[in-house]
Amino acid sequence: MPAYHRQIVYEDEQVQVVLITLPQGVETPIHDHGVSLGVVHILAGEISERYYRRDTCDWSIWEKHSAPATLREGAGHIHIVKNSGTSPAVMLNVYYPPLHMIVYAPEVFDYPKEG
Ligand SMILES: [Fe+2]
Repeated sequence: MPAYHRQIVYEDEQVQVVLITLPQGVETPIHDHGVSLGVVHILAGEISERYYRRDTCDWSIWEKHSAPATLREGAGHIHIVKNSGTSPAVMLNVYYPPLHMIVYAPEVFDYPKEG
C-alpha cells in the first residue's frame, strides 16, 4: 500500500505550505502540530479525522470531510487523518509558524484501532 506523500511547496520563517496526498485507505500516524496553527483545504477526495480529546482523555468518532472543504487545526491538536473515500485525497495545508510535527506510537494515547 503506498504511503502518504508530503511536499513542502513554500516555507519561510513565518509560514509553511504543504501539499499532502493520501492514497485510498491510507492513514497518517498519530501526530500533533506542536505550536502551529493550521488551515487545511481539501482539494480532492474525502478524508476522515479522529482527534484526541484532552478533556476526556479519549478519541472522537471519525468525522468525515469531502472536497471542497476547509478545516482549522489548533495548536496542540492530536489526530489521525485517513482517506475514507474511493480516490486519492489531496490537501493543501498552511501552518503558522512552520510545522514541527510530533509523531506518537499508538500506545501513547491508548488508540483504539477499530471503532
Ligand atoms: Fe495533522
